[in-house]
Amino acid sequence: MSDAGRQSHWENVYTSKGENEVSWFQENPAPSLALIAEIGAKPASAIIDVGGGASRLVDHLIEQGFHDVTVLDLSAAALEAAKARLGDRADKAYWRVADATTWEPSRTYDVWHDRAAFHFLTEARDRDAYLARLKQALKIGGHAIIATFALDGPEKCSGLPVMRYDAARLAQTLGSGFKLLHSQRNEHATPWGSQQLFQFSVFQRAEGDDKFL
Ligand SMILES: C[S@@+](CC[C@H](N)C(=O)[O-])C[C@H]1O[C@@H](n2cnc3c(N)ncnc32)[C@H](O)[C@@H]1O
Repeated sequence: MSDAGRQSHWENVYTSKGENEVSWFQENPAPSLALIAEIGAKPASAIIDVGGGASRLVDHLIEQGFHDVTVLDLSAAALEAAKARLGDRADKAYWRVADATTWEPSRTYDVWHDRAAFHFLTEARDRDAYLARLKQALKIGGHAIIATFALDGPEKCSGLPVMRYDAARLAQTLGSGFKLLHSQRNEHATPWGSQQLFQFSVFQRAEGDDKFL
């Protein structure tokens, strides 16, 4: 899919549907919050939610006292929906409208979180572009929490084909600069009661990986 096609797809989703009318809606992003706690993130940790959309993860992180949270998404409408929900608290986070495959990061982060964005990258050149940004933006020793559909999860999301992963396949895709620390499967209940199998994988950016920059 072209960059423009991808952007108009997601802009259309977020301008035509409410936050709880999409399959990926979570009232409480508990698996992500548990993993962010497990890796030892502190309120001062710089966290970026890549393809964060209108997710409530940012609300919970602000509530827990995190004060360096960035939400990046290629849909401006998604970020506007999240900001409207947060009201005055929206100023406690940073918002970036950008495509994760072309974005130019201007700083680095301790935690890179992505739930159900990377799995849309079905072409190798897009995955390579995403991974180049991951390497540019994630500190050495920092953590990447990446959730995709599991190998036996759905083949499509939002009508688009996805790549499905288990931890080993994702580790192979990320390459040797990332150490797999933990993985778990998670059954997500959509707002209409169907089940989707997700794979959450946690990686640490390896020492010495700066040679890839
Ligand atoms: C299935 S939704 C998941 C949203 C959110 N992470 C969550 O868990 O609720 C996928 C999100 O990724 C965003 N997205 C898709 N491709 C992207 C890309 N190349 N760069 C940035 N965001 C992207 C979409 O706009 C959408 O908000």
